[in-house]
Amino acid sequence: MRRAISPWGDERELPAPFAAEGAELTLEGLSVRELAERFGTPLYVTSEARLRSNARRLRHAFETSWEPFRLLYAVKANNNPEIVRALRSEGCGADCSSPAEIEIARRAGVPASKILYTSVFPREDELAFAVRAGTAVNLDDPALLPRLLSHGTPRALSFRLNPGPTESGPEGLRFSGESKFGTKLSRALAAYRTARRSGIHELGMHTMPGSNILNPEHFRLVARFLGRSARVLRRATGASPSFLDMGGGLGVPYRSHELPLDLEAVARGVARELEGSVDRSCELWTEPGRYLMADTTVLLTRVTHRKEGRVPFVGVDAGMQTLLRPALYGAYHPMYAATQLGERPARPVHVVGPVCENTDVLARSRRLPALAAGDLLAIGNAGAYGFSMSSQYNTRPRPAEVLVRDGHAVLVRRRETLEDLWSHTGVWEPSPSELSRAAASAPGALAGPTGS
Ligand code: LLP
Repeated sequence: MRRAISPWGDERELPAPFAAEGAELTLEGLSVRELAERFGTPLYVTSEARLRSNARRLRHAFETSWEPFRLLYAVKANNNPEIVRALRSEGCGADCSSPAEIEIARRAGVPASKILYTSVFPREDELAFAVRAGTAVNLDDPALLPRLLSHGTPRALSFRLNPGPTESGPEGLRFSGESKFGTKLSRALAAYRTARRSGIHELGMHTMPGSNILNPEHFRLVARFLGRSARVLRRATGASPSFLDMGGGLGVPYRSHELPLDLEAVARGVARELEGSVDRSCELWTEPGRYLMADTTVLLTRVTHRKEGRVPFVGVDAGMQTLLRPALYGAYHPMYAATQLGERPARPVHVVGPVCENTDVLARSRRLPALAAGDLLAIGNAGAYGFSMSSQYNTRPRPAEVLVRDGHAVLVRRRETLEDLWSHTGVWEPSPSELSRAAASAPGALAGPTGS
């Protein structure tokens, strides 16, 4: 019998593609208990169907309000090539933050014309890599332009504009105002002129004030800012942007009281603000990571031990080394006892990982069914910035990733082995020729910081 039991602990139904089969959580009809037994824990499990439907929903909402529209996937949310490939087949390009991400996107079949490289304090060889790869380049500071041009002419160019202090996004996920990101438009005007003179015809304007935003009004204000910036640019330089990139930031509900974003409202608000400010041929770009990935994935983890106390500690085999968000931002993730759905919650517990840090807490005072060693916990909304921010801290191999595709589970990243952990250490005395060979074969580790 199929019952819908809320993972968030309230009356809401399980979000598709999750469902309850009796007391067991399933994903596209597969039992997560069986997946954990087959692949081990901790384990990230992603639904490709959900990923594709997220991309389609987004494209549909925006394309209805503004054409031409371009959807770029922020690869930093999860860089698994199978994810990037699936999104490419849904028409997504890629927003990349490093040469290695550009390389992943290219190998996944994303054409360079659909890749944007957003550099943040780039090394010389990284700028050169992007120019050679033929991607669009988004610069964080106009003062970087001469350095970029010294490597050739990028296919397209934008500057990341900082709109000044805003209330965008939860603390820790705010990138506007006093932050290392972006520049004032007034500082970039001369650089736009130089770019035009250098023969770059595709010029754009970019901004990214914050992440995980659930208020449609925010995106209207982003569009208003971009629209105004486009008018200032036209007045000052005579140039019209050929694309406006509103960054990422589309939020998803992590807590039961939060409501999903009304994408149609977001897209309509954005289009209304752009109307009249830019030409109808101006492309609208957005580059979400979280919205595409977050709710596609659960992190499966097994209870290792329960320590009694005023608030008991339930230890699990995932921790801040597997999912850093709770330790880094105090982020909240929904959790479900994966084989005890429908059971009444017992007294609150702290869910903690195995790492020797006090911040290694996945949930504080969480009401879950009574959990004992061996029980399986599923952590929801783990697809964005989950695996991609994992580490080997405390010398723990990184987990595996499984993709559920057409009802079948495929392993798309094998679990690291102990051998993997020490395969990069040793004592080498490389000759200069060995060193330069290594540099040439590794796009992320090119030459030296000065490109020498
Ligand atoms: N574009 C740029 C230039 C970005 O820096 C980011 C994210 C995105 C797009 C995608 O943003 P999204 O749609 O995911 O909000 N680690 C944090 C999120 C940091 C986002 C950094 N930049 C987290 O776990 O919540």
